[in-house]
Amino acid sequence: MHKKLNHLGIIMDGNGRWATARGLSRTEGHKAGAKTVTRVLEACQKRGIHYVTLYAFSTENWKRPAAEVAVLMDLFKSYLDKDVAELQKKDIRIHFIGDRTRFTAEIQRQMKRIEEATRGDETYHLILALSYSGRDELVRAMRRFGKDVQSGLRNPDDLTEEAAASYLDTAGLPDPDLIVRTSGEQRLSNFLLWQMAYAELYFTPVLWPDFSESDLDAAIDSFQKRERRFGTVTESPFKTETTVS
Ligand code: IPE
Ligand code: IPE
Ligand code: MG
Repeated sequence: MHKKLNHLGIIMDGNGRWATARGLSRTEGHKAGAKTVTRVLEACQKRGIHYVTLYAFSTENWKRPAAEVAVLMDLFKSYLDKDVAELQKKDIRIHFIGDRTRFTAEIQRQMKRIEEATRGDETYHLILALSYSGRDELVRAMRRFGKDVQSGLRNPDDLTEEAAASYLDTAGLPDPDLIVRTSGEQRLSNFLLWQMAYAELYFTPVLWPDFSESDLDAAIDSFQKRERRFGTVTESPFKTETTVS
C-alpha cells in the first residue's frame, strides 16, 4: 500500500551555485531554476500530488544585492504572466503565501488576478511562497488575531490550534506531508514552521536547476518507506500480553 503524498513542499535552493559552477552569472541560475519549476510541476501532476508549495523567495532574500532582487522580480513577473496561464489550463488553482505588500503594485495586481482566475480549479493547488517566512507569517497572524480580540470578535481563551491556523496565510490548506530541500543544505530557512510539525524531511545534494523527475521519484520513494507515527504507536507492543488475565 502506497502512502498518499497529498502535499509536497519544496525549498528550491542552489540556483546560484549551479551558475557559479558553470562560470555563469547567478541570473542564469535563476532562469534555469524557473525552467525546473515548470518541469517539476508537470511531474507532480502526473504523479497525482494535489498540493505543491514552492519556496521561491524568502523574507530574508530581500536583503540580497538590489540587482539580484531585481532579476528575481522580473522572473516572477514573466512567470506570473506566461507560465501561470498554462497552469490555468491544467486545472491548477494558484495561492500565494507571504507578505505581498512588499511587492510592486503591478506584481500585487498580477497575483490577485491569477488567484481570481484560477479559483474554482480545485483539483490541483500550487502554493507559491513569495516574500514568505514562517516567523513573519506567524507574527502577521498574531497581529490579526490581536485586532480581532480588540474589536470584540474573538476571545483569547477560545484560541485553539485550529483557530490559530485559520489566521495563517495557509488557512484552508492541508499541512505538507513531505518537504524536499535541494542543494545539500540541511536547514529549513524559515519555511512553513507551523505547518511542517509532522512533515517528513528529505534533503538532496542536487542543485535546483538540475532537479529531475527521477530525483522527485527518489524523494517520493523515501517518503513511502517511512513510518509516520504522529506521536502515537502504529501497533500496540502489548498486544501479545492481553491474554494474561
Ligand atoms: C535559490 O537559489 C533561489 C532563491 C533563494 C531565490 P539560491 O539563489 O539561494 O542559490 P545558492 O544557494 O546561492 O546556490
Ligand atoms: C531558502 O534559500 C529560501 C528559498 C529557497 C526561497 P536560501 O538560499 O535563501 O537559504 P539560506 O540562506 O541558505 O538559509
Ligand atoms: Mg540558497
